[in-house]
Amino acid sequence: MSLSEVLAHYPNDQARAALIPMLHKIQERDGYISKDAMTALAEDLKLQVGQVESTATFYSMFRFEPDMKHSIDVCTGASCMIRGGDDVLKAVGDHIGKKCKGHHAVHSDDGNFSVREVECLGACSCGPVMAVDGEYYEDLSANDIPVLLQETADGRLRAPGSMRGRRLGEPV
Ligand code: FES
Repeated sequence: MSLSEVLAHYPNDQARAALIPMLHKIQERDGYISKDAMTALAEDLKLQVGQVESTATFYSMFRFEPDMKHSIDVCTGASCMIRGGDDVLKAVGDHIGKKCKGHHAVHSDDGNFSVREVECLGACSCGPVMAVDGEYYEDLSANDIPVLLQETADGRLRAPGSMRGRRLGEPV
C-alpha cells in the first residue's frame, strides 16, 4: 500500500489522523524517517513540520537514521526489567563492545547491528524480550546473547519465540 492509499482511508477533514500510519509506511518504505520525508508528510497532512517531528520522536519504534544490517530492540520496561532485561541489554552492549543505553541507536563497528533500548515491545508476559529485525526473542537471559547475535551476523538466526520453549506466555 502506498502513502496515498493509506491517506485515502481517511476523510479529507480528518487527514491528520493518518499521521502515525503514514509514519509507519514511510519507515517501511525507506527503512527510516528522514527530515525531508517529515517535511513532505507535513505538507500532505496540512500540519506544521514541528507537529510531525514531535509526534514521530515521541515513539521509540520510529527511526530517524538508517540502521546497520540488523536492528536490535532490547526491552527494559518494568516487566522485562524484573526478569533481567537490564542484564540482556548489557550483554548486547558487551557483545558489540559499546555501551547501549537509551532510545538512540548505538551502532556496532562491524556494520552488523543497530541497538536500541526500548520501553515495551508489547510482550510483557514473555520477558525479557528482544526484537531482532522485528522478530521477537523471548524469555532471554544474558547468556543467550552471544550465540543469538553471532547467528544473526552469520545469517542463520533460529526461529523466533521463547528461548526456553515456553508457549504463548504460559506460566513460567
Ligand atoms: S515490558 Fe518488555 S515487552 Fe513489555
